[in-house]
Amino acid sequence: MSQDHCPLIIAIDGPAGAGKSTVAARLAARFGLLNLETGAMYRAFALKALTQGLDPGNADALEQLAAGTQIQLLPTPSGNRVLLDGEDVTARIRQPEVTYAASQVSVHPAIRRWMVDLQRQLGAKGGIVMEGRDIGTVVFPHADIKIFLDASPEARSERRYAQSGGAGSQQAVLQEIRERDERDRTRAQSPLRPAADAVVIDSTSLTLDEVVAKIEALITARMAAR
Ligand code: DC
Repeated sequence: MSQDHCPLIIAIDGPAGAGKSTVAARLAARFGLLNLETGAMYRAFALKALTQGLDPGNADALEQLAAGTQIQLLPTPSGNRVLLDGEDVTARIRQPEVTYAASQVSVHPAIRRWMVDLQRQLGAKGGIVMEGRDIGTVVFPHADIKIFLDASPEARSERRYAQSGGAGSQQAVLQEIRERDERDRTRAQSPLRPAADAVVIDSTSLTLDEVVAKIEALITARMAAR
């Protein structure tokens, strides 16, 4: 098997703003893997709930809504395109109110079960790098490589603020990140935490290239050991 193609399953979990998407995209390009961004699926569902005026805390209403909802993730070299009931919502799911609602709808066990099923189907053939919050712990507990990518809240808010081109205030971004961290880490169902066998990388004082190089070395070693 060539080194550029492998049926591996690589799980990348971690909090908002740790750099998961950028790192996953780089690894996907390097090793010829599909890059699947599971946060985009929760975001698409949250967008539908918002559009229909549903309370993101109403588990029963959300479960009913999910039963009539189709979410597709289409990996492309420039990131995932997301279709919600056939409509491309790739840009709309990045709006701040959708970000907030995605964190709220994702606490509900029925919604998580539905998403986890979809994600397992998407990744069933392997050859993927899947990023999210519970990939190494729940979605693919037997993933070949599990990374938990972390960084201090300050570093993450600084990066997010820079990416936004200086929109709003960095203090507000930090506050949003802290709230989302709290909800993602303390929810009862599959809270954000490193899997016991995950490699934890703290990227606070690492460059993107350094993070990618560390993970590339792990993947290369894993492939050589097969
Ligand atoms: O990665 P992101 O910021 O696009 O994720 C949006 C929200 O979705 C995040 O606050 C938590 C939730 N999420 C989750 O609960 N499980 C995942 N595997 C991915 C995202």
